[in-house]
Amino acid sequence: MPEGKSLAQRADELEHAAIAALDDAVPCVSVIYTSGEQDPTQPFLHTFMRPDGRKLLMGHDKRLARLPDKPQLLDFFKHRFFPANHVLQSATLAKKAGHPEKVILACLLHDISLMGFIRGDHGFWAAQLIAPYVDEEIAWAIRAHQVLRFFPDPAAGYEYPEAYIRMFGEGYRPEPYVAAAYEKMRRHKWYMTGRIITINDIYAFDPNAQVSMDDFVDIIGRHFRQPEEGLGFDDSPSAHMWRTINWPTRAL
Ligand SMILES: [Fe+2]
Ligand SMILES: [Fe+2]
Repeated sequence: MPEGKSLAQRADELEHAAIAALDDAVPCVSVIYTSGEQDPTQPFLHTFMRPDGRKLLMGHDKRLARLPDKPQLLDFFKHRFFPANHVLQSATLAKKAGHPEKVILACLLHDISLMGFIRGDHGFWAAQLIAPYVDEEIAWAIRAHQVLRFFPDPAAGYEYPEAYIRMFGEGYRPEPYVAAAYEKMRRHKWYMTGRIITINDIYAFDPNAQVSMDDFVDIIGRHFRQPEEGLGFDDSPSAHMWRTINWPTRAL
């Protein structure tokens, strides 16, 4: 026999490979992730029944680092969020300025949606993600930073970022719902907390800045109520959002 294998052995191997392929369930990309690149009104190949009979993924995506069974905030920072330099710089500035710990935590968490979930309206999404686990003021401020960053407050030391002109163009104006939210937020008792996030937001990444998550672990411990069951498994109003970050390609 060529290659020293019997036909029966080769048939066995092929069968095993076929079974393994069937076991390798297909990761499913949500319509929103590709909307625009693909026409969202057209059916996806992996939606519902696959013509090749392969199963759809209903759990962990092997291409991603597996989170612990009871994942904590830092597990998400480590395995699901893009590098935290920006928010670490923000939080470091807030710490140096002597702001209270909950304001520092707000700076540390302000962009987590951008970093690992959804970009558009990221302040709103981030606020919802963390609301069950932090002081109400922290979630409010993170929600507000989404809006306040478009409106200067020179008295507080905040000008419209130069970077936004480069990023969105001279002619960009926030939509009316943003302006309406601003009118409410600027009169809110926690306005300055939201404003401080925008003041400590870094629009130009400094590659020489020395920052470390180690400086904030204790603050997280004191102000972020990690659920015993792990983020995603505690039945909070945002648990499903943490599960989606954990398992982004589940079929259902
Ligand atoms: Fe932001
Ligand atoms: Fe930011």
